[in-house]
Amino acid sequence: SLYRKGTDIRMLPCSFWFLLLFAAGGLVLFIHLQDLSEMVQQQGPGDDRPLRQRCLCVPHQWPCSPAQSCQPDYISAGSGGPKERRCPAGDRPLNTSAVLLPHIFSSSSASGSLSADRWKTLSRVLEARQQLMKEICAKYKSSISRTITRHHVAHIYVEDKYKLLYCQVPKAGCSNWKRTLMVLAGQASNAQSIKHDTVHYGNHLKRLDSFDRQGIMRRLETYTKVVFVREPLERLVSAYRDKFENPNNYYHSLFGKPIISKYRVNASKAALSTGNGVTFQEFVQYLLDVHRPVGMDIHWEPANQLCNPCLLDYDFIGKFENMEEESNFLLRRTGAPRNLTLPNFKDRNPSAERTSMQITQKYFAQVSMWERQRMYDFYYMDYLMFNYSKPFKDLY
Ligand SMILES: *[C@@H]1O[C@H](CO)[C@@H](O)[C@H](O)[C@H]1NC(C)=O
Ligand SMILES: *[C@@H]1O[C@H](CO)[C@@H](O)[C@H](O)[C@H]1NC(C)=O
Ligand SMILES: *[C@@H]1O[C@H](CO)[C@@H](O)[C@H](O)[C@H]1NC(C)=O
Ligand SMILES: *[C@@H]1O[C@H](CO)[C@@H](O)[C@H](O)[C@H]1NC(C)=O
Repeated sequence: SLYRKGTDIRMLPCSFWFLLLFAAGGLVLFIHLQDLSEMVQQQGPGDDRPLRQRCLCVPHQWPCSPAQSCQPDYISAGSGGPKERRCPAGDRPLNTSAVLLPHIFSSSSASGSLSADRWKTLSRVLEARQQLMKEICAKYKSSISRTITRHHVAHIYVEDKYKLLYCQVPKAGCSNWKRTLMVLAGQASNAQSIKHDTVHYGNHLKRLDSFDRQGIMRRLETYTKVVFVREPLERLVSAYRDKFENPNNYYHSLFGKPIISKYRVNASKAALSTGNGVTFQEFVQYLLDVHRPVGMDIHWEPANQLCNPCLLDYDFIGKFENMEEESNFLLRRTGAPRNLTLPNFKDRNPSAERTSMQITQKYFAQVSMWERQRMYDFYYMDYLMFNYSKPFKDLY
């Protein structure tokens, strides 16, 4: 009932609100007094000001807890109204009063909680990534259309409860993130209980392009937009190993057959009719062919083309290379249940070694220097936008 009153916030007399604030603040202070010393040590995300001037909130929930107030810049533009308000994102400081939320800076050492130092470092790293993205996008913006269409958001999954938009980049940890989204949405009690096929074919998660234009724009404006990327050529090798080195009727038939028939000299009848056994070299030939016999696929489409970072301005650009820590950082920042951490499943071919940079180099040793260079060029925008360095010494 307190919350229902809260929606009429502007109609209450100042003195009432002030009193309420005081009372609630005192209560909160009392409750958390015991945690205080720990809190000071674990202070916080990228902000060196004394704790008392800061206010940590559960992001994206409205109403905010009583002692918090939503600052005007957090009231989303556009579709307006009290329902659209939200509290500031997890690590944004407010100067109202010190509300300490134990579930952000957990005093327990549960997995998924981060030390204050790591939290600060990650905040800076992620901010730098966003900054770099802005610079690259500004530099190349002439070639980018500014109108968002359904097509631009086709790979984005929606989690309405915690207001997350997750752009799916296959082979960059997306199964585990989709599991996590399903747990956040209350579709499963824990990630362990969700089978791989349910994740990918269950149609449990809503995609952003399934909403009408207003629904799309409202979510893009007010939700936390997240993408996880991976070293582009490592991602490519991972896709090749997954789809072509293992039994897979769909990929062998749709991609294997035309690839073998175009690039293999004297292909056997069996190879032509099954599409089994595409070599890495043939796969690279197909990718570099301006007249590909079959189109691209999301597993090897450049991440920037799947997720359109210059158009959608992601709030969180995570990296597969540090997936677990960055995901848990995001989950804590989002105010997800404390016991929820990113699961670490390797769904397909669990016995095969995970694709590493070493493995990637072995595969690229099978193609010519010219092809290595062309493949790097092919993913060049991903390298630039996501700040990956040249994977081989002989590239220019
Ligand atoms: C707190 O915010 C108010 C208004 O936004 C401002 O006038 C005041 O100086 C701030 N106080 C501190 C300690 O930053
Ligand atoms: C880009 O990557 C390099 C090397 O990994 C790192 O030193 C640098 O800080 C990164 N720059 C940005 C803007 O993230
Ligand atoms: C977290 O705890 C809640 C309540 O104790 C429980 O229902 C839920 O299954 C747990 N979630 C995970 C991911 O373990
Ligand atoms: C392909 O097969 C033909 C006939 O069997 C043979 O003459 C030719 O040398 C083969 N070419 C290659 C590249 O193996």
